[in-house]
Amino acid sequence: MTDKSIKTLTVDQAAEEAADLRPQLLEWGKQYYEADAPSVEDDVYDRVYARLVALETAFPEIVTPDSPTQRVGGSSRSDLPKVTHDIPMLSLGDVFSLDELTEFDERLRGNVDTPFDYNCELKIDGLAISLRYENGKFVQGSTRGNGQIGEDITANLKTIKSIPQTLSRPLTIEVRGECYMPKAAFLALNERREAAGQAPFANPRNAAAGSLRQLDTRVTADRQLATFMYNVADYEPLTTRTQSGLLDELAELGFTTNATYRVAHDMADVAAYIETYQARRTELAYGIDGIVIKANELPLQRSLGATVKVPRWAIAYKFPPEEVQTRVLDIEWTIGRTGVVTPTAIMEPVALAGSTVARASLHNPDYLIAKDIRIGDTVLLHKAGDIIPEISQYVAAKRPAEAKAYVIPTTCPSCGAELVHLDDEVALRCINPRCPAQLAEGMNHFASRNAMNIAGLGPQIVAQLFDRNLVQDVADLYRLTTDQLLTLDKFGEKSAQNLLTAIDNSRNNSLERLLFGLGIRHVGAKAARSLAAAFGDMASLMAADSEQISAIDTVGGIIADSVVTYFANTQVHELVAKLQAVGVNMTYTSGTPATNSTSEFTGKRVVLTGKLQELTRPQATEWLEQHGATVTGSVSKKTDLLIAGEAAGSKLAKAQSLDVPVWNEAQLQAAMDETK
Ligand code: IVH
Repeated sequence: MTDKSIKTLTVDQAAEEAADLRPQLLEWGKQYYEADAPSVEDDVYDRVYARLVALETAFPEIVTPDSPTQRVGGSSRSDLPKVTHDIPMLSLGDVFSLDELTEFDERLRGNVDTPFDYNCELKIDGLAISLRYENGKFVQGSTRGNGQIGEDITANLKTIKSIPQTLSRPLTIEVRGECYMPKAAFLALNERREAAGQAPFANPRNAAAGSLRQLDTRVTADRQLATFMYNVADYEPLTTRTQSGLLDELAELGFTTNATYRVAHDMADVAAYIETYQARRTELAYGIDGIVIKANELPLQRSLGATVKVPRWAIAYKFPPEEVQTRVLDIEWTIGRTGVVTPTAIMEPVALAGSTVARASLHNPDYLIAKDIRIGDTVLLHKAGDIIPEISQYVAAKRPAEAKAYVIPTTCPSCGAELVHLDDEVALRCINPRCPAQLAEGMNHFASRNAMNIAGLGPQIVAQLFDRNLVQDVADLYRLTTDQLLTLDKFGEKSAQNLLTAIDNSRNNSLERLLFGLGIRHVGAKAARSLAAAFGDMASLMAADSEQISAIDTVGGIIADSVVTYFANTQVHELVAKLQAVGVNMTYTSGTPATNSTSEFTGKRVVLTGKLQELTRPQATEWLEQHGATVTGSVSKKTDLLIAGEAAGSKLAKAQSLDVPVWNEAQLQAAMDETK
C-alpha cells in the first residue's frame, strides 16, 4: 500500500491499487478464519481496509461486486439473512429504584400462591444473541432483532472463542445470552482505531454491535468478543428446573456463564446483591448497566408467561447513570508515534465512577468542533461503557461570556511543522519524521515490553532524555553514561545503574524485538517474528526485495512494500549502522533451541490461557517455542497441553472436556527450572 494522496491518482492507478488490495484482504480474512490464527496484526487489516474504502469512495467506478468492502458496512448490513425466532426473544421491563422494585415483587407475590426465590444476575451491557444446537452441534446463531425476527450471524459467532461448537451432551436446544466486548479489548481497539486515524467507538456496546454484524468474519474475529449465556428458549432438554441451576448446567454444557449470580429469598437479599455489584461495577472486566432479578423456578417462569414484550417473571433494576460537572481548564494536543495529533480536555479533577478524572479525550478535530467545547466551559462528564471518561456536552447556562470557539491548530505543537489530514482519515497528523514528540513516542515503543523490553525506561524518563539533549535517536540510549543519568530528576546511583543494565541487556535481544521496536509501518510483533525467522539477520532483510519478503508465509505484499520502503531510507541505514556500532544484536536467536537435545516439548502443540503471575505471555511463548513447542491460540483435539493461569475460562473447560492435559503456571516454572 502506498501513502500516495488519493487526489493525485488517476482512475487507472486507483483501480490498479484497489485490485492489489482486495485479494490481500480476502486472503487475510480467510487465513484468519480457517486457520484460527491471525496472519497479520489487527490494525494492519484495518488500515489496508480503510485505504481500499478511500480509493473506492474517491473513484466509485472502480468498485467490484466481489470487493471485501461490498461485504461489510453501511447498507450491506441489512443484507444479513433473517432468522425467525419461533420462541420470541423478549426484552425486560425496567425499574430505577428499590421502591419500584418492591412494587414489582409485591405484584408478583400477589399473583403466586406459593413462596418463591429470585435469582439475581448482573445485567451485562451487550447484545442479546440466540444460539441453536442440534444434537450438540452449533448450527445457527442470531441477533435479537425486533424479538420476532433477528439476523443470521452464525459465521461471526463461530469466531468467538467462548461459544462452544460442540456441547458436552448431544442436546437439541436454543441457548440465549449476551455478547459483549470486554473493557480492555474495547480500549485497545479504540487505541488502534485512533492511531489509524479512524473514529473511535463510543462505548463497548456499540463496538460489540458493530463487530457482530460484520459480513466479514475476519473483522469480528479480531474484536475479542465474549459471551455470557443466561437463558434457554425452552428448558425441556435440560435436567435442572431452576434459573440458578440452569446457569450451572449451561456451564457444564460448555458455555461461559457469569458466576456472580445469587439466589435471593426476599427483597433484603436482592437489595444486598444490588449494593454489592453497584459498588464493584467499575472493577469488573465488562460493562454492566444494572441487575436482573428472575423468579428462580423455571416452571413458575413458564406459568407466569409474558406480556407482548416482556416476561412477567423478571425485571431489570437499572443503575443510576453517574454524571458529574466539571470545568475545562485547557485543551492539550498530544502527538503519537505515528504522528496522529489528538486533543485532550484537561479538567478540574472530579471523582467519577470509582476514579478521579482530570482528562478526557476529544478524539479528533471534527469531534471537538461538533461538541463545541471551549476552555472555561462547564461540561457534563460520564464514563462511556463504564470506563472511558467522556464529555457529553457543555452546560450552556454556565458558559463564560469570554469563552471563544476553539481554534484547531494548523502546526505541530512540538515541532511547528504544518499538520495535515491524510485522505481517508479524520485524524490530524504531523508528518515531520524528525518531530521530537514523535521521536520520544518512538523511543517509548522501542523500549516497550514486546519490543526491546527495557524495564524502567518510561515516558517521563524518555521526555527528559530528549529535553536535555542526551539522545537524538534510539541508538543513543546505548551510549548513555551513569553521570548523564544522574542529571535526571530523582535519579540516584542505583536507579542509574539499573537502567544502564536494562539497556545493556537489551543489546542481546533476538532480531524480531529490534524489528518490531523500530516501528516500521504495518510490522507488528507477529510480522517482525516471521521476518526475523525467515531472514536470520538484518543485512539479509535489508537486501531483500518485495517479492522475496512477500514469499514468506503470513507476510503479504503490503508488509513487504512497507519494509522495502522503510529500508530504502538513508536515515534508516544510518540508524541501523549506529545501532550495530553500539553493539545491538542484529541476528535472529529465538529459534535456536536452548539445548541441542530434544525436550519434552519438542513437536508438542501447547495453548496458554488465563493470567500468568510470574511470566508474561510472550516470555512463556518464547521459552516454549525455543524448546520445540508450537504455541497455538485455541484448544482442539490436537492440543497436547494447556497451560492455565489465573481465571482461565472457556479454554480450560474445553481442554477438560477433550481430556487435554492441563498444567498450572508452577508446573511450567518447574519444567523451565529443570532445563536450566
Ligand atoms: S434475561 C426473557 N438476563 O438486557 C429473558 N437479560 O434490557 C430476557 N441482559 O434483551 C432477558 N443481562 O439483552 C437477561 N442476565 C441477564 C441479562 C439480560 C443483560 C439484556 C438482554 C435483554 C436486555 C433487556
